[in-house]
Amino acid sequence: MSVERRPLISGNWKMHHNHFEAIRTIQRLAYNLSSADHDAVDVSVHPPFTDLRSIQTVLEADDIPIALGAQHCHWEESGSFTGEVSPTMLAKLNVSLVIVGHSERRQNFGESDEDVNRKVQAVLAQGMTPIVCVGETLEEREAGSTLDRVADQLSRSLTGVNRSQASSLVVAYEPIWAIGTGRTATPEDAQEVCSAIRRQVGEFWDAEAAGGLRIQYGGSVKPVSAPDLMRLQDVDGLLVGGASLDPDEFARIVAYRLVG
Ligand code: PGA
Repeated sequence: MSVERRPLISGNWKMHHNHFEAIRTIQRLAYNLSSADHDAVDVSVHPPFTDLRSIQTVLEADDIPIALGAQHCHWEESGSFTGEVSPTMLAKLNVSLVIVGHSERRQNFGESDEDVNRKVQAVLAQGMTPIVCVGETLEEREAGSTLDRVADQLSRSLTGVNRSQASSLVVAYEPIWAIGTGRTATPEDAQEVCSAIRRQVGEFWDAEAAGGLRIQYGGSVKPVSAPDLMRLQDVDGLLVGGASLDPDEFARIVAYRLVG
């Protein structure tokens, strides 16, 4: 039985674009995307927290079918956590997707697999979709431990998530050595890891959950590499950093299916 999985292409703006720049960028992106793009692909943008309200207003005022996403959050609903933002606050802004466990959060801000797991559960509890990031370092790849590393991150991230929540999950495979470096995994390597992720989700729950799971590839995706990545059997979307900052370049990635 083959399952229809709608592609999801997400732009992670990281710490770029103040709210004026964000408004200009989203307006230009909306102009660039056609209704055929929206029919074929789900698109989300993940701006810094300070931009969320401005972008929400633009998207809702003009009925633009781009999903609003965040880059991370805390797992508690409220409390004495200086500098943090809660899942409930994000849900209130109609954020529908939250990136969880990005390697930059893990490496630079000490997020553990246990933190990631708490966040996954908190995001799901608010009816939002977590984009759970997993991926190996260059040393792990060279040591041949990529699949073990990714499997370990994934099982720790999904602990306690129940079967009925499985359909709202997205997993992003992002080899750390490919992020922001201009190096992309080969299609063969990306497919190998993404198919292992799907197999693991099948073992964790069942074949239906595995068949419905959306898996993104991330790491230096550009308009020129997007079509080959999106052709892979187990790649259902892309998590795009640098190339999502420019609305013209990002729109060309979303239109990957028109190439070749
Ligand atoms: P990049 O970032 O496309 O700039 O490599 C991807 C990511 O970090 O999600």
